[in-house]
Amino acid sequence: MRKKIVAGNWKMNTTFAEGEALVKAIIAKKGEVKNDVTLVVAPPFTHLTCLAEELEKAGIGLSAQNCAEHESGAYTGEVSAKMLASVDVKYCILGHSERREYYGETNATLTKKIDVALKYGLIPIFCVGEKLDEREANRHFDVINAQLEVLTRLSAEDFGKVIVAYEPVWAIGTGKTATSAQAQEIHTFIRKALAAKFGAAAEQTPILYGGSCKPSNAAEIFAQPDVDGGLIGGASLAADDFIAIAKVF
Ligand code: PGA
Repeated sequence: MRKKIVAGNWKMNTTFAEGEALVKAIIAKKGEVKNDVTLVVAPPFTHLTCLAEELEKAGIGLSAQNCAEHESGAYTGEVSAKMLASVDVKYCILGHSERREYYGETNATLTKKIDVALKYGLIPIFCVGEKLDEREANRHFDVINAQLEVLTRLSAEDFGKVIVAYEPVWAIGTGKTATSAQAQEIHTFIRKALAAKFGAAAEQTPILYGGSCKPSNAAEIFAQPDVDGGLIGGASLAADDFIAIAKVF
């Protein structure tokens, strides 16, 4: 049985006070979610240290949204995987399409980031997904295959720690969701591509869907056999919606 995971990507939202209130509201409702569903939240860097203990006690995973590709040194403004691990962050989102698009992250950057994240014991939540023009040109499988090269070069041991998120760029923050059939098609494609390298281990890899996921569409998407949960942006900023999504399992 694969893990079921619902992760909230807060992006660059919430002041510390707002983030603290959001965490309290999520914790208060966590009892409504089945025990076999792992909840993860990814607040901004500034909030991580102060939220770690409360989340740990509540059994909710704490994630960063990014980490530096370097281990340490003269990289003004960057936050390292080692620093994140030192404040009990457990997961790290890597390769989100906003990082790829606005900060120029490539497979080369992400290869370094995933290696350093794994070195310091962080669980990568590795995002892949095609843009609208790529889908329209029927290139979505090629694009995703190329993005997955960051994972297929990992050792079997490291690969076993990774969570994948399929986030079609055209569905992120747009209100347009992939249909459940589109999600399933790509999730199976990802699992097969990973199985070609890692064999049966790919059966254990959680593959999350992300892109305008909300309480009204989560049930249908999460019911697909290769969809193991969601990476939620906008809807993770309201505790009621985030919990409602996790409750569809
Ligand atoms: P969204 O974002 O749910 O707001 O579309 C998802 C994501 O970018 O992780």
